[in-house]
Amino acid sequence: MNVDLKTQILPAGEAAVAAAARCLAEGGLVAFPTETVYGLGADASNPAAIARLYLAKGRPSFNPLIAHVSDLGAGMRIACFDAQAIALANAFWPGPLTLVLPKTKDCAVADLATAGLDTIAIRVPAHPVAREILRAFGGPVVAPSANLSGHVSPTTAAHVQSDLAGRIDLIVGGAVAVGVESTIVGCFDAPMLLRPGGVPRGEIERLLGRALVQPPDDADKDTGQPLAPGMLASHYAPRTPVRLNAGRIEAGEALLAFGSAPVPGVDAATAVMNLSAHCDLAEAAANLFGYLRALDARGARAIAVMPVPHHGLGEAINDRLRRAAMGRE
Ligand code: TXA
Ligand code: MG
Repeated sequence: MNVDLKTQILPAGEAAVAAAARCLAEGGLVAFPTETVYGLGADASNPAAIARLYLAKGRPSFNPLIAHVSDLGAGMRIACFDAQAIALANAFWPGPLTLVLPKTKDCAVADLATAGLDTIAIRVPAHPVAREILRAFGGPVVAPSANLSGHVSPTTAAHVQSDLAGRIDLIVGGAVAVGVESTIVGCFDAPMLLRPGGVPRGEIERLLGRALVQPPDDADKDTGQPLAPGMLASHYAPRTPVRLNAGRIEAGEALLAFGSAPVPGVDAATAVMNLSAHCDLAEAAANLFGYLRALDARGARAIAVMPVPHHGLGEAINDRLRRAAMGRE
């Protein structure tokens, strides 16, 4: 990989949006904030740009990308929406929900971006910067999270810079809101929760009037052709080992706390960060990846994580923590 690119960093604004659209049109790679995490965008119809994107992230090319579009109408040009998918789109777009749908026959998204599948993942982001870039560019933009493959997703421009400086053309600044990636729903005969995320399962199930089914167990493994290939077991791992459901802190560990209950051994912790002292799951989601990165940089023996409740956004938080705890190959 050529790591000698000069990566430009621009604060959000008209000039940045115009530069981003120009860069995408020229086949460049642009990181930009969405309401979930930072995305690394490329022109979805340009195979050469997508190949560069996989290289820049060090991402296995069997792992397909989400196409970001400006509205449902643009989505309908690349995917076939049934009544259920339209209901989901109307309820949750723009926002942190990704739908996996059959591709249209003349879908303009390059096969490389969908890893040869006959389905495509689509999302209409809510972040104003993402929306302006999509509008200015005028076509679908594929955008995985803007981190090196296997790293924790970026929630600040500085996170993107530390992973991808020299590998991409432009970083547009701006704050994210949700902090975990979008929820992915496979719009199959029985709608399936492929990845818990920014829209809690319960809200989707209420709208559909039915439970979301779970992917089969073997869809979660590093081998074979999983249903949501990005659900690689160790997709979100920091370098420091992560210990879950910690009831006490061992010497040399850093603490990722939740709530204000006292933790035995906390005086011996090398560092303490609290996802949310008052048990607010939205605040915890927003802090999760930044705190994992910060604690990872402290060189602790392990990051001990207090239990986080499973309801609402807690499902996505626990999913990412579980993956972080699996470590990396
Ligand atoms: O919040 C988000 O979704 C962020 C922002 C940037 O939009 N994007 C993101 O992208 O998390 P990425 O590439 O890190 O994760 C996309 C996930 C992967 O697990 C991938 O395997 C899955 O979507 N995916 C993409 N296309 C798919 C398809 N056709 N069928 C099943 N899963 C698919
Ligand atoms: Mg990712």
